[in-house]
Amino acid sequence: MSVLIQHGTVVNAGGSVKADVLIEGERIVAVAAGLDPAGHTVVDATGLLVMPGGIDVHTHLDMPFGGTTSADDYFTGTRAAAVGGTTTVFDFALQSHGHTLGDALTVWRGKAAGKACIDYGLHMAITDLNPHGGSEHETLREMDAMVAEGITTFKLFMAYPNVLMIDDGLMFRVMQHAAELKALCLIHAENGAAIDVIVAQALAEGKTAPHFHALTRSTQAEAEATHRAIALAEMAGASVYIVHLSNTDSLRELKAAQARGLKALAETCTQYLVLSLEEQMPGKSFDEAKYVFTPPLRSKTNHAPLWEALADGSLSVVSTDHCPFRFEDQKALGKDDFTKIPNGGPGIENRLQLLWHYGVNAGLLTPERFVELTSSAPAKIFGLPQKGQIAAGFDADVLLWNPNAEYTISAATQAMNTDYSMFEGWTVKGNASKVYSRGKLIVDEGRFVGEAGYGRFLRTEANAGGMA
Ligand code: URP
Ligand code: ZN
Ligand code: ZN
Ligand code: ZN
Repeated sequence: MSVLIQHGTVVNAGGSVKADVLIEGERIVAVAAGLDPAGHTVVDATGLLVMPGGIDVHTHLDMPFGGTTSADDYFTGTRAAAVGGTTTVFDFALQSHGHTLGDALTVWRGKAAGKACIDYGLHMAITDLNPHGGSEHETLREMDAMVAEGITTFKLFMAYPNVLMIDDGLMFRVMQHAAELKALCLIHAENGAAIDVIVAQALAEGKTAPHFHALTRSTQAEAEATHRAIALAEMAGASVYIVHLSNTDSLRELKAAQARGLKALAETCTQYLVLSLEEQMPGKSFDEAKYVFTPPLRSKTNHAPLWEALADGSLSVVSTDHCPFRFEDQKALGKDDFTKIPNGGPGIENRLQLLWHYGVNAGLLTPERFVELTSSAPAKIFGLPQKGQIAAGFDADVLLWNPNAEYTISAATQAMNTDYSMFEGWTVKGNASKVYSRGKLIVDEGRFVGEAGYGRFLRTEANAGGMA
């Protein structure tokens, strides 16, 4: 089985070139102009860009949260990812209180088994250092076992007290041990304790509508935690990666740390680049629950600095934090109280379309930087040396991108399992034409032709986020 992709423009983070791409089995075996088509299935990519498939490093599939479960499982979620040009996801396995990391791994591998349509890695969220009540910090020892299993990234929540949040001491212990293991610490940075006080005060004043979710979680609450996480990581000698950085105040903390040479990286997510408090959450109706996620939408003034940070390298990755809930029966849980609206939004399918349209078409990102942000940097930071590049020897995760295809986003036609889209009716220019996962065609002109269970669990390398 060999496929020759002819006459396209190969776009890698390091540059673009007109070249043919030869795939044999699961790998790319040659990238060069004028490859001999004899004996190969030929695909004409005239006018198309040939890019490494997207890597979305922040998703929540089939996740119990906010009294319900996220609406995409590993089948519908990875199918939607694929339709949008993403060929690898990293999902979060969550340790529950009283249970081990091993338990969480078993549960999450079980959720993916027979369902994942594309390759997937896992981050492990640590919530309990002593699940059996001892004093020996059993979980720290278990981190070694996780690294041996190919899980080299640990997530720590500074928000959601009594659910997922751990305190600074525990966070520091995990960071110290992560440094020894060259593991990367991923941080949800928000001051959960202060936010809880502000939320209680808002509810006491009868402020129950969805937009109060945003108004009770300030940019300072995120910036403070961003600063604290980076400071603790510096003390521990650990590499740190701030997830879903949403605003300029947090960005200032990140840039200050990077200017001092600290091992601090961050991602932002599509929604923080194109949606805003003013546009989506004016405080008019319960419909705004569709945009309740954490960190919340910010004022529009944050957009330009985030785009600049993507272009200048301060931000390394764009992910989605895909955590979908249906409006009718899930978001509705919070009709009378915004704290009961399950937090999260659907976005796994639209990341590349939106970043291309509002980034590349708008002249804010080059196509090469687009590839770096959506695929190459994620592969490097998260320890996948076989992915993120169109070159001989790499996995044949290949995206044929049509920069001229116009596409209108709508819940009626999307692959994601939600009854709404955060980008309903938006027309973007630039869309996936064909998508290959390890050499297998899985999407053909918007039609999913892959299969449940094809995706493999990816063991990642511990490389301290590429900063060791
Ligand atoms: O609202 C969100 N983002 N839900 C998912 C959990 C998280 O904090 O990433
Ligand atoms: Zn035990
Ligand atoms: Zn988070
Ligand atoms: Zn998340």
